[in-house]
Amino acid sequence: MRKRIPKILVTGGAGFIGSAFVRLILGDCRRGGLNLPYGSVIIADKLTYAGDLKRLAEVEGKFKFYKTDICNRKQIETIFAREKPDIVVHFAAESHVDRSINDASPFIETNIKGTQILMDTSRKFGVKKFIFISTDEVYGEIANGKFDENSPVKPNSPYAASKAAADLLAQSYIRTYKFPAIIIRPSNNYGPWQYPEKLIPLAILKIIGCGKVPVYGKGLNVREWLYVDDCARGILAVMNKGATGQIYNLGSACESKNIDTVKLLLRTLGVSQDRFEFVKDRLGHDIRYSLDSKKLYQKLGWRPIVKLAQGLKFTVDWSLKHQGWLKSKLGDINKLYNK
Ligand SMILES: NC(=O)c1ccc[n+]([C@@H]2O[C@H](COP(=O)([O-])OP(=O)(O)OC[C@H]3O[C@@H](n4cnc5c(N)ncnc54)[C@H](O)[C@@H]3O)[C@@H](O)[C@H]2O)c1
Repeated sequence: MRKRIPKILVTGGAGFIGSAFVRLILGDCRRGGLNLPYGSVIIADKLTYAGDLKRLAEVEGKFKFYKTDICNRKQIETIFAREKPDIVVHFAAESHVDRSINDASPFIETNIKGTQILMDTSRKFGVKKFIFISTDEVYGEIANGKFDENSPVKPNSPYAASKAAADLLAQSYIRTYKFPAIIIRPSNNYGPWQYPEKLIPLAILKIIGCGKVPVYGKGLNVREWLYVDDCARGILAVMNKGATGQIYNLGSACESKNIDTVKLLLRTLGVSQDRFEFVKDRLGHDIRYSLDSKKLYQKLGWRPIVKLAQGLKFTVDWSLKHQGWLKSKLGDINKLYNK
């Protein structure tokens, strides 16, 4: 008898990382994809400023799409009743720290309440696996050493606090209801199709527009950079082989100060090393994130493949070919940063 292919509901599948995951599971097997048939992948996305179906053009016609708000319990229940997903991979979120500093409200709504509604509905409809995409930012900052999965949660920005609340809620559902959740905490992602509010695509957009790259403070904040396709493969490894009830850090071990990342990017773009300017630091800016991802490396056999220099080269090549898409977000970026 042929094995039944599980139905996967992906929230936030029109976003940056969610779309990379969808392209992977619907994509070519020869490139590590699953080539899942039509009907097995369902995307639920509100298409906020950050959502864009253009990211899914290469797998168009291979997934079902619902434009919906995860905070709308009635709509979410209707989708679950109709589609009966076996697995939920929950990416949907407000994801940008600077926006959370301007206004935390949508972060509380989507990241906390939306996650609660999805978990309640998943319980009600007997979902077998619920993958919650959390973040390394739930741990707060660390000057030396690394956070492992047992490190305390101590978030600093409103964004990180909203993700930590949802992460803790998922842990409480695991304990209270034996809810089959798995929590993944990825480090900073970058790569094609990232919204140009985040450091790397913002820098590229500025250079394309003949401007200078804004660097917070003195550029000394350290981030652990993970190429988005590596992240998507890590999430797939957890979906296939991860144990329910577990938390997995998903990091690249590739750390770089923001100023060094920007200088490497300027070299990759072939422009002068002085095309940046220091700007007033972000409020409450975390100095360093660093993950110990041994559990994922050793238990599930996942390894990042793309090194930072190579990933930046892929991202620059992609960006130069997709300048129109990046530039289409310029009005929104100017509103965000040139208030
Ligand atoms: N980008 C990173 O570096 C990073 C690192 C670690 C963890 N994460 C987490 O990974 C997930 C995906 O991040 P991303 O960078 O792809 O985000 P993104 O901002 O690019 O995409 C978010 C997606 O969620 C959708 N969405 C937002 N609110 C919604 C709502 N109420 N209902 C339905 N859909 C809604 C948006 O339309 C968009 O398609 C998030 O949960 C984020 O917290 C991101």
